[in-house]
Amino acid sequence: MRSILPIGAAFAILLVAAPSAAQEFEGVSVCRKCHIDQAESWAQTSHAKAFESLKPNVKAAAKQKGKLDPAKDYTTDATCLGCHTTGFGKPGGYSAATPAVELKNFAVVGCETCHGAGSKFRVEHGSAEERWKTGGGETGRDALVKLGQSFDYKTACATCHLNYEGSGWSGAHPPYKVFTPAVDPKYAFDFDKEAVRSGKGSGVHEHFKLKNVFKGEPVPAIRAQTQADAKDPD
Ligand code: HEC
Ligand code: HEC
Ligand code: HEC
Ligand code: HEC
Repeated sequence: MRSILPIGAAFAILLVAAPSAAQEFEGVSVCRKCHIDQAESWAQTSHAKAFESLKPNVKAAAKQKGKLDPAKDYTTDATCLGCHTTGFGKPGGYSAATPAVELKNFAVVGCETCHGAGSKFRVEHGSAEERWKTGGGETGRDALVKLGQSFDYKTACATCHLNYEGSGWSGAHPPYKVFTPAVDPKYAFDFDKEAVRSGKGSGVHEHFKLKNVFKGEPVPAIRAQTQADAKDPD
């Protein structure tokens, strides 16, 4: 019996010490370093203020309509946080232990809720640009997908906007969204309309012209449209 304990303990230490193979959430400021235009525009969207809505007496009228208690503090309610923060319960993502200085990065519906947890692919963005600048050509997007970047915006939006019974989205599972079309038809979600609307008052940041450091599939279906209307970078 005696020898089993130390072996078990050593094994547990190994498990804890082993570097995580999964992509981790890194927060808005990491993406912002290189994508300041998108970050400034994102800050004007309601996604940047989604955590505020969980605070007592914020959006009281809407809460009453949704049969919530307007005086209650929902900022610690796990049935709300999955959709009103970034990466709740996932590696690197928002948790009750997130320090106050990091709230602006994680107590928001940030970049990575739509683009994927960034610890691996964001490094590749920098390397790919370096190669591209020094004559190494474009990098395939398939490499980014392997590193956790998502181009499947339809599923990303659905995870929060269509996560309720009867939405027609097959992935729906509790905890469900509170503000559904049953509460008010204005809470209906139409990907084809919403995903291409950008800027203040919409869900998505404004778009800026890409230099095309990356090439190949998967090119998002809406890319042609979003780039056609894109602004020049500042
Ligand atoms: C070191 C700088 C750097 C960081 C950090 C960075 N990116 Fe990028 N990213 C780039 C560059 C460079 C490109 C290529 C831009 C171009 O083609 O004009 C790019 C491209 C992209 C694209 C478009 C890819 C495509 O299909 O062509 C998306 C989306 C994106 N980044 C999101 C993010 C997100 C989200 C984060 C944070 C997790 C992030 N980036 C972090 C430099 C960076
Ligand atoms: C992690 C969850 C999450 C993801 C992913 C997400 N959203 Fe949202 N979205 C929210 C929340 C929460 C709000 C409400 C913010 C608030 O007011 O508190 C919101 C608000 C919005 C609004 C504003 C609604 C209004 O009428 O004021 C639009 C539009 C929107 N999202 C579109 C999108 C689109 C398009 C996508 C995908 C490309 C997307 N969202 C992805 C959680 C999400
Ligand atoms: C499955 C994802 C999801 C869950 C879970 C969720 N929400 Fe939301 N919430 C959203 C989305 C998406 C919106 C934006 C709806 C829209 O405007 O179309 C939203 C909007 C809101 C709004 C703003 C409504 C308005 O009219 O401005 C409040 C307040 C809110 N949620 C509170 C909560 C609270 C409190 C909980 C937990 C009891 C919760 N939500 C759970 C996704 C979710
Ligand atoms: C609600 C979902 C959502 C969030 C949050 C979001 N994006 Fe995007 N992003 C999109 C969509 C949709 C596109 C357009 C499709 C495409 O071209 O890939 C896009 C495109 C981009 C592009 C390509 C160039 C452009 O301007 O269209 C970059 C770079 C980018 N996002 C970076 C970011 C960064 C950085 C953040 C956080 C500050 C962020 N995104 C937050 C949905 C989102």
